[in-house]
Amino acid sequence: MPLNVIVLAAGQGKRMHSDRPKVLHMLGGRSLLGRVVDTARDLGAAKIVIVHGHGGEVVRAAFAGDVDLAWAEQREQLGTGHAVLQAMPHVDKAADVLVLYGDVPLIEAASLRRLIEAAPTTLAVMTAYADDASAYGRIVRDKTTSRVLRIVEHKDAIPEERAIKEWNTGLLATSAARLAGWLGRIKNTNAQKEYYLTDIIALAVADGLEVRTVQPANTWEVEGVNSKRQLAELERVHQRANAAALMEAGLTLADPARFDVRGNLIFGRDVSIDVNCVFEGTVKLGNRVTIGPNCVLKNVSIGDDTEINPYSLLDQATVGARCRVGPYARLRPGAALAEEVHIGNFVEVKNTKIGTGSKANHLAYVGDSELGSGVNIGAGTITCNYDGVNKQRTVIEDDVFVGSNATLVAPVRIAKGSYIGAGSTISKNTPQGQLTVARAKQVSIPAWKPPAKKG
Ligand code: UD1
Ligand code: CA
Repeated sequence: MPLNVIVLAAGQGKRMHSDRPKVLHMLGGRSLLGRVVDTARDLGAAKIVIVHGHGGEVVRAAFAGDVDLAWAEQREQLGTGHAVLQAMPHVDKAADVLVLYGDVPLIEAASLRRLIEAAPTTLAVMTAYADDASAYGRIVRDKTTSRVLRIVEHKDAIPEERAIKEWNTGLLATSAARLAGWLGRIKNTNAQKEYYLTDIIALAVADGLEVRTVQPANTWEVEGVNSKRQLAELERVHQRANAAALMEAGLTLADPARFDVRGNLIFGRDVSIDVNCVFEGTVKLGNRVTIGPNCVLKNVSIGDDTEINPYSLLDQATVGARCRVGPYARLRPGAALAEEVHIGNFVEVKNTKIGTGSKANHLAYVGDSELGSGVNIGAGTITCNYDGVNKQRTVIEDDVFVGSNATLVAPVRIAKGSYIGAGSTISKNTPQGQLTVARAKQVSIPAWKPPAKKG
């Protein structure tokens, strides 16, 4: 049977104290709801129906390009049962249905597969255990057979029921046909005057079914986000789990507790990463790459044997093999370094190709440029690429030596093998192989006397 997934996401998330709908808060670089949707996709769901309420338009807009999603509005939050009912018009009559929560972001496909496998002829509920199950619904079982009888919500529970350690995660699986039948029979005669989805458990039992329970591989998979504190806790859980998996795959981490991936990190052999680095988007690290402490890499690709030194920031850049970048380097979008390039401290490179073996080791700005191979850019040198309106290009051919503190006014071409004297302001193309100096001549005044105080 095809699988349809219903994701409940109509809750307001008041405890987040945020203008942003709760399910759009980010965890590991992806929104909470985005994570749940991705997991539903991993399960091969034929349909994914999201129940939204408060801030619904903002939530829908965040998934504007995702044509595989169906949306159901729940205008008033009358309970989880009512929420699922809103989704039913989108659900295929002959499907298996899995109910997920948009604010339970770390649930894994493997645990859900076991839940779905337990459901085909009945109802399967995912449960977990806690010494104090606090505000959760409790799983009430028959004392002698230990079969599930019903779920009692915390607010409706008597002390004896509150002592039960098995709690309802809210995630469940059954067939669309059975679900539709039960939803038609639930009432809101309870402490919260809500239509409880959990009431379908007793209805299933009344229909003579044996309700099955399945536990997640890890309890953190079923933990929800209701506050910024819980969000930060689950972020760390996710980062630790991800770090553990990457280390199992051979990545060397100085400290897995100080490592953040907000996207996808792909790495070769013998890669090592020092503390406090952040990886965003898709980052590819070749063999034997080393990343120093406190670096941020966003959508970058780095070749074999390259060293990224501390406090460097790389964004949409490509770095070839055997390069040395940083400390304190900034590679901005479109920076493309060939092999053996050295970019040193306080050097900014933007939209610029740099050829093999070229160096800019100190305090430079190189933007909208093309550098050949074997170029040396002296300390303090900048390309003046912006005339206030347009960006202009600078071309520096192979084996050029630019002295310190040169100002290269684009558009300009520095021909192969030329030397630029320190402190020059270059606004015209230079000839091949010659020394070009463009600065005031040095003069000394022998009869000069320092000014004396008047009167
Ligand atoms: C529910 C369960 C409870 C379980 C707990 C686990 C019911 C009646 N109770 O509690 O047994 O232990 O989850 O977290 O189902 N939502 C809507 N519309 C609504 C109400 C809720 O979309 O009208 C969504 C929320 O956005 C959230 C999820 O459903 O994603 C659960 O709602 P929440 O209020 O957190 O759970 P409870 O109903 O308190
Ligand atoms: Ca609640």
